[in-house]
Amino acid sequence: MPAIARLGYLGFEASDLGAWERFALEVIGLGLAERGADGSLVLRLDDQAQRIVVHPGAADDLAYVGFEVDGEHALCALAQTLSDSGCKVTEGKPEVARARRVAQLFQLEDPSGVPVELFCSPERASGPFRSDAVPSGFVTGDEGLGHLVLVARNAATNDRFYRKLLGMKLSDRIQTELAPGLSLDITFLHANPRHHTVAFTEAPLPKRIHHFMLQLGAMEDVGHAYDRCLDAGVPIANTFGQHPNDGMFSFYARTPSGFLVEIGWGGRRVDDATWEVRTYDRLSTWGHRPPAVPGA
Ligand SMILES: [Fe+2]
Repeated sequence: MPAIARLGYLGFEASDLGAWERFALEVIGLGLAERGADGSLVLRLDDQAQRIVVHPGAADDLAYVGFEVDGEHALCALAQTLSDSGCKVTEGKPEVARARRVAQLFQLEDPSGVPVELFCSPERASGPFRSDAVPSGFVTGDEGLGHLVLVARNAATNDRFYRKLLGMKLSDRIQTELAPGLSLDITFLHANPRHHTVAFTEAPLPKRIHHFMLQLGAMEDVGHAYDRCLDAGVPIANTFGQHPNDGMFSFYARTPSGFLVEIGWGGRRVDDATWEVRTYDRLSTWGHRPPAVPGA
């Protein structure tokens, strides 16, 4: 059965591109590949020509998510499977493929209304990527860009879409009560050895996305990123911590659009031959606390 291989790219719509430029380049350590005619920030973090594009707009939310499929044949087969299953799938126009710097793409929406793009053959950048802020680099390759956590209108229909139709596999779940009356049931799915490429939960949140995650190659680079957030006055949403399921060492900072970015290192990789699906009862083994308020 054709399936997605990895998270390929993300598009955001942001109301303050100046704040995003400082945040992306100076705090996170991404590279500016180019600036679009409309002022979009085209960002890279590895040898792929572009990974994150921040478009001007009022939404301050995820605009689209791109999942890579290995090869044109598998891509077309997956698009056909989705279409046969009742999804409205449209082949992306050549100008959209050029803008995304991919050979071919198909566009559809997930059951929660998130614009999804399935593509193959992303363009490589002409030169290698190096970040002075992140000397260890961003962990991508076969594991893709990172992961994202989405807000689902209905977890069961999201589950069917991402597992049955896009071919992802269940990693585990976290079911926990955050506060009286606020329970979360988060589903984590993998498409490759990265513990999860997509997670989703029903939650009373105003945006499509809760956070996206970028993985760094060294723990000290996560520490330096944390220091740069403090120096730049970027709000920390959750201090250092580890989740019980992926085991990643990470913290969460608030992007200029209000949703979060998780900056992480390490973590468990999934081997489907031996992986056992579990359900956990807490979000974090330790840490990931809201920052202490001085003097409180
Ligand atoms: Fe995460």
